[in-house]
Amino acid sequence: MEQTDVVEEGVEMGRLANRIGVVTGAAQGIGRAIAISLAEEGADVVLGDIDSQGLQETARAVSALGRQARTVVGDSTEAEVANALVDVAVQDLGRIDILVNNVGGARVGKIWEFSDEDWDFVIRLNLRSMFCCTRAATPHMIAQRSGRIISISSGARHGSPWQSYYLGASAYSTSKAGIHGFTRDVALELSEYGINVNAVAPGPILTERGREYFSAHEQDEYSAKKMTPLRRYGEVKEISDVVTFLASDEASYITGQTIDVNGGR
Ligand SMILES: NC(=O)c1ccc[n+]([C@@H]2O[C@H](COP(=O)([O-])OP(=O)(O)OC[C@H]3O[C@@H](n4cnc5c(N)ncnc54)[C@H](O)[C@@H]3O)[C@@H](O)[C@H]2O)c1
Repeated sequence: MEQTDVVEEGVEMGRLANRIGVVTGAAQGIGRAIAISLAEEGADVVLGDIDSQGLQETARAVSALGRQARTVVGDSTEAEVANALVDVAVQDLGRIDILVNNVGGARVGKIWEFSDEDWDFVIRLNLRSMFCCTRAATPHMIAQRSGRIISISSGARHGSPWQSYYLGASAYSTSKAGIHGFTRDVALELSEYGINVNAVAPGPILTERGREYFSAHEQDEYSAKKMTPLRRYGEVKEISDVVTFLASDEASYITGQTIDVNGGR
């Protein structure tokens, strides 16, 4: 028998019922999957991205689940955009319970050829959006004495053999290791306020963007698939499920952790 939690007036309640979440980088890939997963569990969401068309598609998918979605188009490494994401959550939807710092990405190049500009871009993209959004969200979470902050790191925080060996990925690995340090420190700062701070470190995940890279490098000696003990790429849902778990009451005693979701590497 299929069971759903149904309470008052026929409204279906999930694990995140009545929670408000903010997700950055929600126009595609892992961010979109996270937005949908939070909504499936009953959360209303504010979605941020620089890609307004993709953002609208994610918002439509959230609305189709009967949840509210608001969108903020802009570069969330800018403090004004990060502040706007949190302001829309608080002013329009009433509060902010969950912040998912998903924005991130790589530029690759061997270290002896890597430009100052590329280094700064990668470090900023992976760390500054997380910093600005977390700084904006925490006063509200402190005031309500609850909250969940979840950032997306990467298996690259330990080095990423497939990318590094062939292309060079030191800036990306450096920044994703930084997310782990940020998570541990901020978890301690916020522990007395009932706010849990964690990260998820995905292995190679099949996204719209990643698919092309993975298939081009499938035959490499150190390909992502060969280097992954489960011998397959991950699905976006396998990441969003863990993020949703960390946002839920079931994860109430987990903080300061980076959870590897990487097929065993
Ligand atoms: N896909 C993987 O295999 C994988 C593995 C490990 C970690 N990750 C991490 O997971 C996260 C999501 O990855 P993905 O593969 O879904 O990426 P993606 O490139 O498919 O999506 C990233 C989204 O962020 C948006 N974005 C980029 N810069 C932005 C900015 N400055 N401000 C606002 N939005 C911006 C993009 O428009 C895009 O919609 C990233 O942090 C990535 O580093 C991905």
